[in-house]
Amino acid sequence: MTVAARGSWSLRRRLVVGIVGLLAVVSVVVGVSSVVALRQTLMARLDEQVMDAASRAAGPLQGAPQAEGDQPGNRIGTLVLRTRDGVVVRAEYVTESGVDVELTDAQIAQLRALDLGQQPMTVDLGELGEFRVGARELPGRDDVAIAGLPTAEVTATTSNLALIFALVTLAALVVAALAGTQVVRVALRPLDRVTATARRVAELPLARGQVALAERVPDSDPRTEVGQVGAAFNRMLEHVESSLRARQDSEEKVRQFVADASHELRTPLASIRGYSELTRRSGLELPDDIVYALARIESESVRMTSLVEELLLLARLDAGQELAHGTVDLVPLIADAVSDAHAASPEHDWRIETGEDPLVVTGDANRLHQVVANLLANARVHTPAGTVVTVSLVRAGDDAVLTVADDGPGIPAALRPVLFERFARGDGSRSRGTGSTGLGLAIVAAVVEAHRGSVALESDSAGARFVVRLPLARPEQ
Ligand SMILES: Nc1ncnc2c1ncn2[C@@H]1O[C@H](COP(=O)(O)OP(=O)(O)OP(=O)(O)O)[C@@H](O)[C@H]1O
Ligand SMILES: [Mg+2]
Repeated sequence: MTVAARGSWSLRRRLVVGIVGLLAVVSVVVGVSSVVALRQTLMARLDEQVMDAASRAAGPLQGAPQAEGDQPGNRIGTLVLRTRDGVVVRAEYVTESGVDVELTDAQIAQLRALDLGQQPMTVDLGELGEFRVGARELPGRDDVAIAGLPTAEVTATTSNLALIFALVTLAALVVAALAGTQVVRVALRPLDRVTATARRVAELPLARGQVALAERVPDSDPRTEVGQVGAAFNRMLEHVESSLRARQDSEEKVRQFVADASHELRTPLASIRGYSELTRRSGLELPDDIVYALARIESESVRMTSLVEELLLLARLDAGQELAHGTVDLVPLIADAVSDAHAASPEHDWRIETGEDPLVVTGDANRLHQVVANLLANARVHTPAGTVVTVSLVRAGDDAVLTVADDGPGIPAALRPVLFERFARGDGSRSRGTGSTGLGLAIVAAVVEAHRGSVALESDSAGARFVVRLPLARPEQ
């Protein structure tokens, strides 16, 4: 397994693998050392028995070699090899049925060839199996007594123990893996709750408007590590919430200020317009430049009034006010708007493509009318005479799709990214000459959004093409 693959393991998996791995290492160490210790103890005892047997073989045998095989104490499996003056006088082995059998010449040769010191050693005697053999040398003569005992019993005992250890370890590992998984799962459950809270917060619309950030992690006990994570996360959420509230408050203040200022400006503007109009109509003979100045005052105050009205509308839309909720059939609304546009600019070629069926949306008829009027005004004001403007209205699923397309000069590339922002306008002479403010499309976007719709520019080189989508009113059940 690569390091990268292990790096992507979940915490849960790592903990379980860690626990099981540790347990496996500990079990193996305990098991191996126990088996080794047991084997050493058994071997030491066997060695003692071997040496005892060798002593017996060396001792009383000298007088009556014939009777030695019957000597008590030579248990089953014992082998004895006795030489006197370099001659083998006894070489036998006690079989399982307790009968002495002679050792073969090869076995005798093998035993005699051994370099047996003070310590017994292990030798493999072919078909007789493995033996632990030891020797007693009688000093002064070439007289040796060798005795041996099979190691099979020791081997069987130790391998049995090893097998039991292996099986128990295996079972313990399986149990540890299962129980560990469960324990870790329970222990980490609070982390899942932190994740779930974070996920819910991530889905909240925090970018704008009044934000209620009520989500909190339930596990915030500072005595546990996971609780500390939860507590820190909750503190962060509180901080975010208060920051958002501060942001919202200051936004609201600005909005309120704009709304108040616009509102307050309406009255003096109406006065300016009224007085200049009054003066113009007074019938007095005025010098030409005064007449011109009065006309400018009047027209600018009209322009400023509409600007102030638009700002007020935007401020109110931002605050979520100002929308009436009625049912509006878009088909006649568009027909009226196009006919108004035609009256305002007969030099343009106005075309309308709508079906017969009503397309009803829920919303504010005046504001929706303003959306269409603004788009048509743009198509009228920002394109030369003779431009074909096509307004179409179709149904697409649950939406009504209104398209205003013209084959005029199109939107300059530099303007496109900010087109729907406030006071964004082209610097063409037409735009400036007509006293445009750059609020028209901002109002379109704000009204459409307030109706839970969307507006987009799908412009190509051939002109401008605005597409407005509005959700259709649900038919009464
Ligand atoms: N159909 C169009 N063809 C070419 N340019 C357009 C078209 N519609 C909009 N524009 C460009 O987009 C700019 C922004 O339009 P918007 O309606 O927001 O403001 P405006 O028309 O300049 O001012 P206002 O509508 O407030 O009087 C315009 O100034 C113009 O340059
Ligand atoms: Mg406009």
